[in-house]
Amino acid sequence: MKKITLTIDHKKIEVPEGSTVLDAARAAEVYIPTLCDDPLLEPFGACRLCIVEIDGYRGLPTACSTPAADGMQVRTSSAMIETNRKTSMNLLLSDHPLDCQHCVANMRCDLQYVAAYVGVRGDNPYQGEKRSYELDDSNAFYNRDLDMCILCGKCVRACDEIQGRQAISFGYRGFSTKITAPFDLPIWESNCESCGRCVDMCPTGALFDKSQLKHGLPTGETKTTCPYCGVGCGLIVETKNGEIIGVRGDRENSVNEGHTCVKGRYGWEYVQHPDRVKKPLIRKYLLEGKKKSEIDKSSSDWEWAETSWDTALDITASNLAQIRDSHGADSIGFLTSAKCLNEENYLMNKLARQVIGTNNIDHCARL
Ligand code: SF4
Ligand code: SF4
Ligand code: FES
Repeated sequence: MKKITLTIDHKKIEVPEGSTVLDAARAAEVYIPTLCDDPLLEPFGACRLCIVEIDGYRGLPTACSTPAADGMQVRTSSAMIETNRKTSMNLLLSDHPLDCQHCVANMRCDLQYVAAYVGVRGDNPYQGEKRSYELDDSNAFYNRDLDMCILCGKCVRACDEIQGRQAISFGYRGFSTKITAPFDLPIWESNCESCGRCVDMCPTGALFDKSQLKHGLPTGETKTTCPYCGVGCGLIVETKNGEIIGVRGDRENSVNEGHTCVKGRYGWEYVQHPDRVKKPLIRKYLLEGKKKSEIDKSSSDWEWAETSWDTALDITASNLAQIRDSHGADSIGFLTSAKCLNEENYLMNKLARQVIGTNNIDHCARL
């Protein structure tokens, strides 16, 4: 790919043709504040915080939507830039509740960080009418508090460009503009698939996981691979007091670049559910060598009992052999799992076809 060279704050940087000025600044490790940009989304130019000065350009172009050009001279900081950034930030905050201490996103909020970087705190010169919306808590996994929304559009673009769902969009006009599901219905009644990508992208406390309300911020994180299907998305598991309190996609993982489906993102409570089976369990009558026809299901013989893997496997193997011998191999079917490794599924296929002698084998991903 053809390369171009430009200068950002006196730093020379070579980037591929087609990069934006913001891409080049990031490559040069020069920080430019942003609120509506994400490297995974198309440029949008909504927040106007990434303004820069470029020799030969009129005004203050936005770095996120200006293509980088060979020989460009860019400055990311000047009195003019600082003044205009402060104005943009004050306008963004002019109808934003400023009670950060009581916000679920406190200490995890891009708006909070960028406002501090730009030097805007406390009194706002543009106080006026405030928008106020009812909390939408209809979704099983996340809430929408549009009082906190700065209309950066990242959620809308993430839903469209990454998830391909278009469940939300900008609705109404002017001061009444807001992010809505079709017909302004609660999000649970839209075609939202609860992938959580919009929540992940939101730079404010407007979209947040319900678990965050309950548990607050995590104290630890572990990178892992999602066990649900064969794609193998990278996950970051958030923990507190030894328990999982949230999961998000791992942006550094090339398989999913931070994206997940609803199962990977929100289907984690089973891990610490009290009913989860962690040791082999077998009906008591089998451990006692009794036959099913001899026992009463209301008796304690029908209850589950903990046993060792060796005992559980021996009883399973002898029962499978007995069923095959009395009713034929095709009376048995095997169901394997997308959570298993390829090697484990291969072994299950060998067990079904060569040990038992049946082709009755399928996979949970097809169910
Ligand atoms: S959770 Fe996913 S599908 Fe639902 S609105 Fe957000 S991005 Fe769209
Ligand atoms: S809900 Fe969040 S991501 Fe969506 S427009 Fe508002 S601030 Fe931006
Ligand atoms: S990041 Fe460029 S306008 Fe928002």
